[in-house]
Amino acid sequence: MQVLHRIADLRAALAQGPRPAFVPTMGNLHEGHLALARQAKASGRPVVASIFVNRLQFGPNEDFDRYPRTFEADCALLQAEGCDFVFAPDEAELYPEPQAYKVQPPPELADILEGHFRPGFFTGVCTVVLKLFNIVQPEAAYFGKKDYQQQLVIKSMVRQLALPVRIVAGETCRAGDGLALSSRNGYLSPAERAEAVELHRLLDNIARVVRDGRTDVAHLEQEAMATLQRRGWQPDYVAIRRQADLLEPHGLDEPMVVLAAAKLGKTRLIDNVEI
Ligand code: PAJ
Repeated sequence: MQVLHRIADLRAALAQGPRPAFVPTMGNLHEGHLALARQAKASGRPVVASIFVNRLQFGPNEDFDRYPRTFEADCALLQAEGCDFVFAPDEAELYPEPQAYKVQPPPELADILEGHFRPGFFTGVCTVVLKLFNIVQPEAAYFGKKDYQQQLVIKSMVRQLALPVRIVAGETCRAGDGLALSSRNGYLSPAERAEAVELHRLLDNIARVVRDGRTDVAHLEQEAMATLQRRGWQPDYVAIRRQADLLEPHGLDEPMVVLAAAKLGKTRLIDNVEI
């Protein structure tokens, strides 16, 4: 496995071979990231993983500075998965001048849910992902459904800008008790970690009752918000939406997904379950 920090070095290393399979990450890797790397490996193409904590997608009061950075351990894990190249630029390499050209995703998709509570988040994500795509020029790129809205935004960017890359969405990896794996789970105290599973339980329950025919979507959402509050969470949203575009469902016969974001202490967790 080659570890490369410079755009020119990565381009040179990739120049001779076939277009790679690409897994963009912010590091602090866990089984969720590694499952994507495994899927990429199964494509038979050379695998590139990137590790870059992208300042552009963090709000001023978010956790950019304390985001966990575990580069050596990440490289060992990627090597064990048969990853071929790790691209790990520093900020001066990826943003040598202020990034003034940005990708502005459409508000109806990017200013709702996560985008509503994290203004500018998807602009930061799209901008770095487009830039990474231009650097890596992958045949396929792998994103997790854990970040459901993110993978939809990326798919829509790729479609609208005719980017020559295939987007593959991987299933959410969970701990034994159901908690979605996340680099931010490391912020949780033992008591918070025990409570954290409740978010997934709640979403699983909603998915089940909607599948079983419950139609009072708004009521279910409000009930879940109230339950989280009662248990000491600060929920941002619990929302039942269409899988295709995250708009409110018209009928209940189209594929749906229930998504939530909530803070437990200082840690903001997100999760979703397809219906
Ligand atoms: P990061 O949070 O490091 O996640 C990298 C990829 O791993 C994303 O596609 C994310 O959806 C996926 N992932 C995270 N947890 C997962 C889980 N439990 N199961 C399955 N997949 C999971 O998402 C980002 O980084 C950044 O926004 C990035 C796309 C790299 C742009 O900076």
